[in-house]
Amino acid sequence: MKLRTLITTAILISFAPAAALSQTKASPNIPHLQRQGTATQLIVDGKPFLVLGAELNNSSASSLEYMRPLWGRIAAANLNTVLATVSWELMEPEEGHFDFSLVDGLIQEARRSNLRLILLWFGSWKNGKSTYQPVWVKTNQQRFPLIQDEKGKGLPTLTTLSDANRDADARAFAALMKHLGEVDGEAHTVIMMQVENEVGVLGQSRDRSPVANQAFAASVPAEFMDYLQKHKDTLIPELRKRWEAAGFKTSGSWEQVFGAGLETDELFMAWNYGRYVGHVAASGKAEYPLPMFVNTWLRQGPDKPGEDKPGGYPSGGPLPWVLDAWRAGGPAIDILSPDVHVPNYSDWCGWYMQSGNPLFIPESRGDARGVAWAMATAGRYDGIGYSPFGIDRLTAPDGELAKGYQALSQVAPLILERQGLGKVTAALLDKETPKAKVRLGDYTIEARFREGRGPGGPDAVTGLFIQVGPDDYVIVGRSMGVYFEPATDPAQSVGLAVVEEGQYVDGRWVPGRRLNGDETPEWKALSFGGDRYTIQKVKLYRYR
Ligand code: DGJ
Repeated sequence: MKLRTLITTAILISFAPAAALSQTKASPNIPHLQRQGTATQLIVDGKPFLVLGAELNNSSASSLEYMRPLWGRIAAANLNTVLATVSWELMEPEEGHFDFSLVDGLIQEARRSNLRLILLWFGSWKNGKSTYQPVWVKTNQQRFPLIQDEKGKGLPTLTTLSDANRDADARAFAALMKHLGEVDGEAHTVIMMQVENEVGVLGQSRDRSPVANQAFAASVPAEFMDYLQKHKDTLIPELRKRWEAAGFKTSGSWEQVFGAGLETDELFMAWNYGRYVGHVAASGKAEYPLPMFVNTWLRQGPDKPGEDKPGGYPSGGPLPWVLDAWRAGGPAIDILSPDVHVPNYSDWCGWYMQSGNPLFIPESRGDARGVAWAMATAGRYDGIGYSPFGIDRLTAPDGELAKGYQALSQVAPLILERQGLGKVTAALLDKETPKAKVRLGDYTIEARFREGRGPGGPDAVTGLFIQVGPDDYVIVGRSMGVYFEPATDPAQSVGLAVVEEGQYVDGRWVPGRRLNGDETPEWKALSFGGDRYTIQKVKLYRYR
């Protein structure tokens, strides 16, 4: 395969690792998304892949030297994927001159550690602000205009309503994707891309620059109106209600069609961010079509006054109630993702699974509760994967994350085979919800949290239930008892025919102790200890 460098742009490849990377064109088998029943899965090298990830701190990947001692620790923590920043300012220090040395270095080190990468494109926006654009963009506000407040004062945030902003970002992102296609099109070390980071307007509910005011007063774009009419019956309920309350109009200004208020400002911004980021994503996909997602700074709870309103959190990011504006504006974006730094995890998963949006959690926590969330994501919410933020401080080989991912990685193939097909589920337990029942096959399974078991016991756990035969289950649990009832015939009782603890080694079940007596409470339940997640395989029978 020919080297395809130095064609339209001057490409600076100043770092040795680039030469070591394979210079090949994308194979048709590049990572992609695929439906299985109700689930959407990430397919890597022809097989479903569960992302057991963690995200680096923002600045870590700006220095390969800084990263060097981290790789070993990351691999020892049983992750399979690292989420790492690619910053526009470092990649295009001069307009049209690209430096891929950091990207190449990351790829090479990840390969050495047998890890995959998800790259985070910190382009026009990072957490509602613009700080990662190159200096030649930052210092030329004539050419690259900013958002303004109602007094005409600029905010440190590039406006979405500028073709110059959008095109400069899209050109850089396309160059990155082209390069990835060339150096990684065969090996597939990079498996997904995040486009921008937690976008939206902070401090204001919308852009109030003259151009934005004009767009806000003008008619709602025909593309969005068409989308609304075509998807009228399946719109996210909050949006449908606003549209309905204003009379289901098929044309008019934003306030005429959706009513005046903060929510309409937010919807207007969501459409504009969706258009812009969708354009950036599409430009990248035209070069190398990896799956792409956008992450979201979520609305905060009432404990953080002000942060529960658009502008208190970035207004226009892909929050659940404006998902349709993002879908309509940016169809090249495959996944709209929540960064879950709030407590009500299950609610947010449910809201982000609406209208078939695949679930991927790019940022969250990595403690015991985070591990419980990772297990629930895979088992209960058909998720593509999970990633706590701040890997640099989460990598102790015997830390919660490492122990949790150790168990989860063993059963990942079993889960992936069954996601979306009603053969795997999970129950998330904590002090507020110490018991939960789930139905799987012909059995109802109840998990009971045994809080405080063992030193430093977890404050939240997940029971993961995988059906492997009509009466056979693989169960992953910690600090809990697990009870079975017949789901179909209440006159019957359920007994334990065989219970084994054990491990999956290279996909093969290797039994340890045969569990019975005191290790199976009341002769009918499974018991999981408090130190770490363990795996038990059970065969059930019925009697009357
Ligand atoms: C959310 C952002 O998306 C991350 O980049 C990082 O800044 C974290 N917050 C810090 O907690």
